[in-house]
Amino acid sequence: MSHRVCPWWLGYLLASPLRRLLQDPRKVLGPYVREGMTVLEPGPGMGFFTLELARLAGPSGRVVVVDIQPRMLAGLRRRAARAGVLSRIDIRLVSPNTLGLADLAGSVDFTLAIAVVHELPNVERFFTEVAEVSKPGAGLLIAEPAGHIKPGHFESELQAAIRAGFVLEGRPSIRRSHAALLRKA
Ligand SMILES: C[S@@+](CC[C@H](N)C(=O)[O-])C[C@H]1O[C@@H](n2cnc3c(N)ncnc32)[C@H](O)[C@@H]1O
Repeated sequence: MSHRVCPWWLGYLLASPLRRLLQDPRKVLGPYVREGMTVLEPGPGMGFFTLELARLAGPSGRVVVVDIQPRMLAGLRRRAARAGVLSRIDIRLVSPNTLGLADLAGSVDFTLAIAVVHELPNVERFFTEVAEVSKPGAGLLIAEPAGHIKPGHFESELQAAIRAGFVLEGRPSIRRSHAALLRKA
């Protein structure tokens, strides 16, 4: 599997309102995110799911997003400002090899990793870092594009998450995706 990173212009397509016809962010995220939560979203692109995470976390919550592409984060910032939720979002530009989130150790309630794990250079390290910032019992929703990622590859990603300290809890249905919900042990 290549680790080719999604080009910045694809960020516009992924954040298009038309995507709601397939993947409604409220339906995907509503079961997991509550007011006041600290939420992590690695690889948010231009924020198709981030805006809903910020609405669900509410004014007392916060959403930390980390991406390696400044243009993705600039698009996300613009969209969040228009939606009136920018103050709830902590936007961080990171290098590909680490999430750089030592300041969040043990504080995250929920992580969304959608259409990003297959782009990472080191999946083991990624899940270890997500485990380090997660509270015991924190949720981790992983989804990968079914047209692009083979089922066996998705299972190997889940095994990496389990080795890092997560337990598989369920297989939510997200259209055109392989998806799994895990919990930090
Ligand atoms: C295919 S896009 C998906 C965007 C978003 N999750 C969505 O579903 O609309 C993948 C995103 O992950 C980011 N990304 C790739 N490698 C990364 C890394 N090592 N750390 C953080 N973000 C990364 C890319 O820059 C891009 O914004």
